[in-house]
Order: sequence, then C-alpha cells, then structure tokens
Amino acid sequence: MAGSSFISAAAKRLEGKVALITGGASGIGEITARVFAHHGAKVVIADVNDSLGHSIRDSLSRDNASFVHCDVTDESQVKAAVAEAVSTYGKLDIMFNNAGITGPNKSRIVDNDKADFERVLAVNVTGVFLGMKHAAQAMIPVRRGCIINTASISSGLAGITSHAYTCAKHAVLGLTRNAAVELGQFGIRVNCLSPNACATPLATKFFGMGPAELEAAIDAVTNLKGVTLKVEDVANAALFLAGDEARYVSGHNLFIDGGFSVVNSSFRLFHYPPEEA
Ligand SMILES: NC(=O)c1ccc[n+]([C@@H]2O[C@H](COP(=O)([O-])OP(=O)(O)OC[C@H]3O[C@@H](n4cnc5c(N)ncnc54)[C@H](O)[C@@H]3O)[C@@H](O)[C@H]2O)c1
Repeated sequence: MAGSSFISAAAKRLEGKVALITGGASGIGEITARVFAHHGAKVVIADVNDSLGHSIRDSLSRDNASFVHCDVTDESQVKAAVAEAVSTYGKLDIMFNNAGITGPNKSRIVDNDKADFERVLAVNVTGVFLGMKHAAQAMIPVRRGCIINTASISSGLAGITSHAYTCAKHAVLGLTRNAAVELGQFGIRVNCLSPNACATPLATKFFGMGPAELEAAIDAVTNLKGVTLKVEDVANAALFLAGDEARYVSGHNLFIDGGFSVVNSSFRLFHYPPEEA
C-alpha cells in the first residue's frame, strides 16, 4: 500500500477546506475550531456568545478564522452564517452543527416546564435542522460536502439526562440519518457524534461539579479504564468525520464513550476480582 492515495501523509488533514462551527465559542466547538484550523481549514465560528467568539477568533490566525453572531434557532441568522462562510472563503465544505444546551437538571417529568422543554428542542433540534438545511443549500450545487451534528450518548441511551435533552439527542440522530439518505445522492456525507460527558461549561454546570470532579465521576462508571474523555477526543472524532479518511462514512452515529453504551452494567459477566483487575 506504500504510495497509495488512501494513505494520507499530510499533517494538515483539512487543507483547503472551509468549516462552519456552531457553538464554536466554547467547549467542544472551540477545541474543534482550533483542531480544524491547525489542520489547515478556514474556520467560521458561529455562536451567540460574541465576546468569547471574538477572543477565540483572535487567538487563531485572522486570515483563517472569522466569527459571526448566530443564534441557531433563528433561521435568518443561520442562513447569514452560511452566507458569511461562502462569501468570505468561497465555499462551505464542512458544517458542524454543534451548538447545544442542556436545560435545567430536573429529572422528574412532573417538575419539567413546557418552556424549558421547548427551548432545549429549539436549540438542539431546530438548530441542527436549520444548520443542515442551509448548509445543504450551499453544498448541493457543488455536489460535495460534509455535515456533522453533535448528538450525545443520550442519542441512544435513556435515563442519564433530562427528558428534553434525551428527546433532543434522539432527534438529532433521526435528522442525521434522514439527511444522510437524502443528501447522499449529491455526494454529501452526514454523520453525528455521540460523546459521553466531558468537562465543558455545559456539563460542569448541568452536573454541578468542577471539571476534575466530573471527570472522576465519569471515570468511575465508564467501561474503558485508564483513560479520561477529553474535549480533544471529541474534536479528533470530528476531524476524522470531516476529513477525506472518512469519505465513505455517512449516516453514522460515532459514539465517543469508551464502550459505555454497549454494556448493561447490571450484568457483571466479565468482572475480575480486584487482585486480577
Ligand atoms: N460536554 C458534554 O459532556 C457533552 C456530551 C455530549 C454532547 N454534548 C453536546 O456538545 C455540544 C457542545 O456542548 P459543550 O459541552 O461544548 O458546551 P459549551 O456550553 O461549552 O458550548 C456550547 C456553545 O454553544 C453556544 N450556544 C448555546 N446556545 C446557542 C444558540 N442558540 N445559538 C448558537 N450558539 C449557542 C454557547 O454559547 C456555547 O459557546 C452540545 O450540543 C452538547 O449537547 C456535550
């Protein structure tokens, strides 16, 4: 396989590509913006947090990154963000629909407010729908593109976060699959990422823990030992899906959870005694 075009020796895996990242001012979006820029992409950060967004943009090369204010629940702002990417850099190769919120940490359905429920769906589901719609409008005419949506392990697991969040992330998976089926005919790949909890402002606030405490709590219950999930792991998964190495990957839900979602922990079939573990 030496010299095969399937083996990329390029250090910069997104050279020449243009990416738009919603929720790019913090957490997973911020680190993904940094990783994408490091790999040669031009990056448009779209977020409601203008001060953070500008500071991330300023920390990247001004020639290679820009910030646009964008509330993903507002169709005109999503449309304008896509237009900004196309007018500034000439095209849109990668749309990362990543912005999301948790809503309040209320587990009992009887305590949940309709307005809170609808707000989570507006950002996490309608925001992804609008991002895919307007990205598709830019990608269909050129017959190529890559859309990545941030779901969560809650796209496939119940009982670990709120009703609204679980519902929203299941919906992100449904939207991803439906869009992958439709847009495949235009050469556009659509996938989603499903991380376990990692220490971002969203997660630390939701669980009421500091970053180290949250990581320890997650490590205690996860399947894969000896490694802690970092935001960089999620960004690297996005890098894989965005790059040409994933050119035949579409309609996929990529779990980044160390195998957490494939086990029912009440069964302890492979449990080793402490002296052997
Ligand atoms: N951190 C985790 O444990 C975890 C796990 C699985 C999935 N996720 C998902 O990852 C995504 C990113 O979350 P994060 O953990 O990086 O959180 P974060 O709070 O660090 O970042 C989220 C960003 O989204 C922005 N945002 C919020 N509402 C917006 C809106 N209406 N329009 C545009 N931008 C908006 C925020 O300003 C912020 O910059 C979310 O979709 C979240 O559900 C997070």
